[in-house]
Amino acid sequence: MQRPNDRLVPRDAAERMTREELTALQLERLRATLRHAYENVPFYRRSFDAAGIRPDDCRTLADLARLPFTTKADLREHYPFGMFAVPDTRIRRLHASSGTTGTPTVVGYTDRDLDTWAEVVARSIRAAGGRPGDRIHVAYGYGLFTGGLGAHYGAERLGCTVIPASGGMTARQVRLIQDLQPQIIMVTPTYMLTLLDEFERQGVDPRSTSLTTGIFGAEPWTEEMRREIEERFAIDAVDIYGLSEIIGPGVAQECAETKDGLHIWEDHFYPEIVDPVTGEVLPEGSHGELVLTSLTKEAMPVVRYRTRDLTRLLPGTARPAFRRMERITGRSDDMIILRGVNLFPAQIEEIVLRTPGLAPHFQLRLTREGRMDHLTVRAEARPEATPEQRGAASGEVARQVKEGIGVTVTVEVVDGGTLERSVGKLKRIVDERGKR
Ligand code: DLL
Repeated sequence: MQRPNDRLVPRDAAERMTREELTALQLERLRATLRHAYENVPFYRRSFDAAGIRPDDCRTLADLARLPFTTKADLREHYPFGMFAVPDTRIRRLHASSGTTGTPTVVGYTDRDLDTWAEVVARSIRAAGGRPGDRIHVAYGYGLFTGGLGAHYGAERLGCTVIPASGGMTARQVRLIQDLQPQIIMVTPTYMLTLLDEFERQGVDPRSTSLTTGIFGAEPWTEEMRREIEERFAIDAVDIYGLSEIIGPGVAQECAETKDGLHIWEDHFYPEIVDPVTGEVLPEGSHGELVLTSLTKEAMPVVRYRTRDLTRLLPGTARPAFRRMERITGRSDDMIILRGVNLFPAQIEEIVLRTPGLAPHFQLRLTREGRMDHLTVRAEARPEATPEQRGAASGEVARQVKEGIGVTVTVEVVDGGTLERSVGKLKRIVDERGKR
């Protein structure tokens, strides 16, 4: 779809490709990736052999579906370097995921991988509306987490000035934003809310800053949260997606001009949507689990990685050759099953954020009473809310959860500032079911 100002948006060569040119490139890159993985990673050799398929049997993109999946457990089993496909001396950087449930996973990058990563993040920032010369405040954590350094090198690649603030020291972040006057901020949406509190605490109007754009990701967020952040800061808020196993931030990005989901940079990452239970590839447009295959990675090629992220694929718009993914509605691991009903934190976020009198801060507490699991939604009141409004809000959230999702929950409206604030990825669910 050609928009009147399309030609004003600078594009790189891949962004100007037709869908046909892109799919031809994908097939060529996929075949090279499969050969590279098969020849250099014993895990892939074994798993392809067990499935009775050789890299050269993959003659079309659809043939990819014949290959086995790679899971987080596979990466853990080969901790730390077992999935690497190049000699140690070619590994230029390591990152690791936090590993909340045991062994962390380590990912490696060659020089060329770091170059690709900077390119896709630069492309993402440009799609978000960033331009060379912009100042970018990076408040994603720096370190083993891919957010900080991933954003950093992408911003530099685009020709921006980076302010490497990292996460934490919130009072100082507010000061830096006022003094250094960035146009763009890159941060998790929940840490942006923590910054919002701090602006207000310092008596600074968050709408008065130099910021025009926020690039938010690393955790699920909703349209309601977008509206809240855009209004409170007077900025445009767009979504960035990625995961360390695939590269880090910059796998997919929402375009500022359309704000209609995230274009997947398909010249580097090939998406499929599968049924989370059966693993069967679903037709275009169906909701399911995102599975990604890297197309250009050298250090750690990843074939059919089960992300656990739930979404669906849609045709391209602002970047016509690249398919979009809808904003992530949740991870299959974050799904709460309450008396047989599936529920995602994002559904509660939608309800809390559209309920008058409630602030955008909430927590989900799971407890067990006898054999029954119980969910308590704890939501903060807005400072100006009256006792009547607080009472009405709690009834309203309970009613909407019952009507919209189909389960009974307890809702507690607590005072502003009571719930723990985010400094990066926020843990929404407090699971006390194991405790007595
Ligand atoms: O979170 C990479 C990243 C950093 C992405 C900064 C965007 C911005 P991991 O720590 O490996 O990497 O976590 C990856 O975070 O599988 C999703 O479940 C979740 N996630 C990432 N971006 C989004 C998003 C980074 N935009 C995991 N919306 C992924 C929803 C997201 N969830």
